[in-house]
Amino acid sequence: MKPQHVAVVGATGAVGQEMLRVLAQRKFPLASLRLIASPASAGRVVHFDGNDYTLVAASREAFAGVDLALFSAGASISREWGPIAASMGALVVDNSSAFRQDPEIPLVVPEVNAHALANNRRRIVANPNCSTIQMVVALEPLHKAFGLEQVIVSTYQAISGKGARALDEFDQQTRDVAAGKTPTHSVLPGILAGNLLCDWKHTDDGWSEEERKMVLETRKIMGLPELAVSPTTVRVPVRNGHSESVWARFAKPVSRNAVIEVLRGAPGVTVVSESGPGLHPQPRAASGLDDVFVGRIREDASNSHAIQLFVVSDNVRKGAALNAVQIAERVLG
Ligand SMILES: NC(=O)c1ccc[n+]([C@@H]2O[C@H](COP(=O)([O-])OP(=O)(O)OC[C@H]3O[C@@H](n4cnc5c(N)ncnc54)[C@H](OP(=O)(O)O)[C@@H]3O)[C@@H](O)[C@H]2O)c1
Repeated sequence: MKPQHVAVVGATGAVGQEMLRVLAQRKFPLASLRLIASPASAGRVVHFDGNDYTLVAASREAFAGVDLALFSAGASISREWGPIAASMGALVVDNSSAFRQDPEIPLVVPEVNAHALANNRRRIVANPNCSTIQMVVALEPLHKAFGLEQVIVSTYQAISGKGARALDEFDQQTRDVAAGKTPTHSVLPGILAGNLLCDWKHTDDGWSEEERKMVLETRKIMGLPELAVSPTTVRVPVRNGHSESVWARFAKPVSRNAVIEVLRGAPGVTVVSESGPGLHPQPRAASGLDDVFVGRIREDASNSHAIQLFVVSDNVRKGAALNAVQIAERVLG
């Protein structure tokens, strides 16, 4: 790949910071790097990979000459500036929900549907929701082998998925609880320290936004518009790394050994086949790593076509930043 002029929009955020780390770690060839944040941060100097960068606000000038714009500043910023950056010649890879259900815009996990990148007239690619990404990386190879028909998933999602301010608030709550003080909240809808929350917006019919995303995005990425997907999403008091309990039913019968064999050959997956106390995939161990870790692989006690899995991955890395950079590498490489 020739050196690229890259803009990171939301460069000071949880995902933006991880994007910078991923670009450096993968030695992504940079001709220049422009770091874009909110107008309140413009002018502030940040240090990255041995260089100082002055943060700028989004503007037409900021996108001039940019080959690749990695957006992670929320859906409204993406809606406003994504099409402008694309019309000025950039490939836009967007981490927000702004374009994920647009039929003209590919929603891509490279291990699953890189082929969707071929058809990209708008020069915008949507990066899926973090909890969906790690699940489809594990399910796609099993679908190819056995024919996926139904998924029931419960998530155990880390607070880093809610952004840098929520992470700070959770840390303060944890300190308050340890000090015997009553914790407070303003970013989160309640206390997460020592607790569980369903902190996503809800619709009147009781669904959380995150659950809807898991249904619609899984169907679009896997190209299975009728797939039965039944999620329950939960935020847990973990700083980083999402975990998921997945029950999947297939057209063909499945066995633990066959699933292990398929997943051992799957891109982006590490199988954790040991079982025993503390030997399962864990969010602390997965943090900072690229792969999706799949363990606790069990045959269903009453259905020979179903398997149970525990799927763990770094939500800010594979669930956002790494997946976005992998998309850019595929398109520009
Ligand atoms: N965290 C995850 O695991 C995850 C996973 C998948 C997708 N996402 C998505 O990625 C996006 C960012 O998430 P995050 O967790 O990184 O959030 P975050 O930590 O709250 O960071 C938000 C970033 O957006 C910037 N920003 C805010 N207003 C802006 C504006 N008007 N113009 C330009 N930049 C602006 C902020 O800059 P300032 O510092 O100046 O405020 C900051 O850099 C969201 O759409 C989120 O849904 C997050």
